[in-house]
Amino acid sequence: MSFPKNFLWGGAVAANQVEGAWNIGGKGLSVADVAAYKPNVDVKDYKASTAVSLENIKKAMADEDTVYYPKRRGIDFYHHYKEDLALFAEMGFKAFRLSIAWTRLFPTGEEELPNEEGLAFYEAVFREMQRLHIEPIVTLSHYEMPLALALKYNGWTDRRVIDLFERFCRVCFERFGKYVKYWLNFNEIDSIIRHSFITAGIIPEYCGERGELACCYQAAHNQFVAGARVTKLMRELVDGAKMGLMLTKLTTYPRTCAPEDVAATQKKNLENLFYADVQVFGEYPALILQDLKRRGLAPCMEPGDLDLIRKYTVDFVSFSYYMTMTESVDPNAERTPGNTVLGVKNPYLPSSEWGWQVDPTGLRISLIELYDRYRKPLFIVENGLGMRDTVEEDGSIHDAYRIDYFRSHFRAMKEAVEEGVELMGYTSWAPIDLVSAGTNQMSKRYGFIYVDQDDLGNGSLARTRKDSFYWYKKVIESNGEDLT
Ligand code: BG6
Repeated sequence: MSFPKNFLWGGAVAANQVEGAWNIGGKGLSVADVAAYKPNVDVKDYKASTAVSLENIKKAMADEDTVYYPKRRGIDFYHHYKEDLALFAEMGFKAFRLSIAWTRLFPTGEEELPNEEGLAFYEAVFREMQRLHIEPIVTLSHYEMPLALALKYNGWTDRRVIDLFERFCRVCFERFGKYVKYWLNFNEIDSIIRHSFITAGIIPEYCGERGELACCYQAAHNQFVAGARVTKLMRELVDGAKMGLMLTKLTTYPRTCAPEDVAATQKKNLENLFYADVQVFGEYPALILQDLKRRGLAPCMEPGDLDLIRKYTVDFVSFSYYMTMTESVDPNAERTPGNTVLGVKNPYLPSSEWGWQVDPTGLRISLIELYDRYRKPLFIVENGLGMRDTVEEDGSIHDAYRIDYFRSHFRAMKEAVEEGVELMGYTSWAPIDLVSAGTNQMSKRYGFIYVDQDDLGNGSLARTRKDSFYWYKKVIESNGEDLT
């Protein structure tokens, strides 16, 4: 048994990290547009690089700068999308995951009618993808909610945002349903508690006595309700469409077999899976709810919420997978960063320059765990290696380390499929270099395609094929058989 014939090979990006054109075509400010690149911050300290305050938001709003607000410029996919899609098609992409920036359609999130210029942009992108036979996988919310909603409602903590999001989604389904059959609701929904502003527009100073953590769980609940409502809407409006949840799969091993370490690890894993449990099983896990109540963090729910959540569960489970970590009760255990987390270091695994621990076997473990738990088709919608690349004198880029990373992860993926895991597809993060979500750097490169731009926005934006470009093309051509 091997990868299914219709396996969706491709790549994934998010609007806020690639599009640029932050103030073009009627687009409004999103939370990503005020994320500052801090050259002097330790990139391993994700708390420092993603920290947000009202003062800094106001400062950013008054500033037209794009040098220190790199997500405003992205890689200018807005003007380069034809060239980029052509390169993806050259690699043989079957699928491309992208997100629709809410603020391109509804600049403040509260307009009655959508911005036609924003709609026209995505219509053109989807048409081009159709022409190239690339299946769109569309994330409805990927770290780019309207800034105006963060400021007015403290983001997703306020239920009124549910209606506004539903309005945005209705337009997406009505206008793009003819092109898009695979939808994802909230990117890495579990990340609310790690970077609440980026994920859910929560401003710490607005949380008052209730506290930021309670606001996070309230926002998560509101997103669960919104997720159910838009799944219902999608089923009414788009024939044959499928809705997926999207989880950061943060597989954690016990650092030792001491029962205390195992118990602490179990807790971490259950907390991570909770966000998927709700959306697949249609109910809150009893233990999590109990724990939230005990800690005074239980969200307010309205009559009908739990019914909706029960009725409109997702069709498939998508997730990002980059690294694993371990857990220990030993306060002196050495720690290392991962994808916006700080875990205990695993002595058996190598780390990237950013500290993320590379673990292909962990991908197989994660696939088996998720499939066994949910029995829903799985989709790996993010996986990849952020590294510095060197451009040789002749312009070539030899990224053997990236090929090694993907090869080992594809082997692990293949083993899981052979064991019976139902896997719909794989979209790498990211097929083209882009602005990092966590650090706002350009030098943390993920692509098969190099983009000539540095951390401060210098460069021609020219696109160049790296060695991995030709390698991934071969992988897709052979449907994952040729990994040499
Ligand atoms: C995922 C996000 O968490 O990780 C992406 O969904 C992000 O938006 C990716 O880019 C890699 O993280 P980073 O911080 O290296 O860009």
